[in-house]
Amino acid sequence: MNTPLVTQEATQLSDQTLRVLGFAGSLRKNSLNRALLRAAQELTPDSMELSIFDLAHIPLYNPDVDQDGVRPPSVELFKQAITGADALLVATPEYNHSMSGVLKNALDWASRPAGRSPLSGKPAAIMGATGGLWGTIRAQDDLRNVLTATGVHVVLRRPELLVAQAAQKFDEQGRLADETTRTLLSQLLVVLRDWTLRLRAGESTTPASAAPAATAR
Ligand code: FNR
Repeated sequence: MNTPLVTQEATQLSDQTLRVLGFAGSLRKNSLNRALLRAAQELTPDSMELSIFDLAHIPLYNPDVDQDGVRPPSVELFKQAITGADALLVATPEYNHSMSGVLKNALDWASRPAGRSPLSGKPAAIMGATGGLWGTIRAQDDLRNVLTATGVHVVLRRPELLVAQAAQKFDEQGRLADETTRTLLSQLLVVLRDWTLRLRAGESTTPASAAPAATAR
């Protein structure tokens, strides 16, 4: 018999709407990763809402500024948005086989001060879109590593949302048109919801306990 995805305690908690904060590591107006986040807003399951934070105004990280305790307003807003979210959804482009500097920089800000980062303990799912053939797999590997370093609990790789040749999967209005990708994105959001509820219910965060049912890729 399959293990139920959501425990009894978690089912009770699921009466509340989960607030997910999404952000993308691209500032491009026609960014495919931002479009992927907008598609996620369309596809959120019941009891989940997704707001999108724009990283455009986050300055370059400088520990001197951070240590002064007077952080740039955009950084404070970002950290508050993370604090207020039940879970995170991160969309990464792939730049030179890794995540973009924009994304890494924002995560560096949010990771401090050490021991009091709003990232610590947050559930998260990751995804990415690229015009290339490998669907951001290398960027996602690095992103997963960085998020783990900051204490984020990233859902496992089932499903992996690697959107390759992405320009062909969105229509002229920037809407995600590819049905397979829409299905995988919907599955990823359900996995994130269930993962968040499991963590809330105090279940182990070790990967073995988190195996979700969705396996399509
Ligand atoms: C890229 N791109 C890219 N794509 C890829 O699959 N692997 C890579 O290593 C790179 N490297 C890379 C470096 C730089 C500096 C740029 C600007 C681009 C292509 C990139 O993934 C593609 O442009 C995506 O569309 C970027 O995401 P957004 O802006 O559409 O969200």
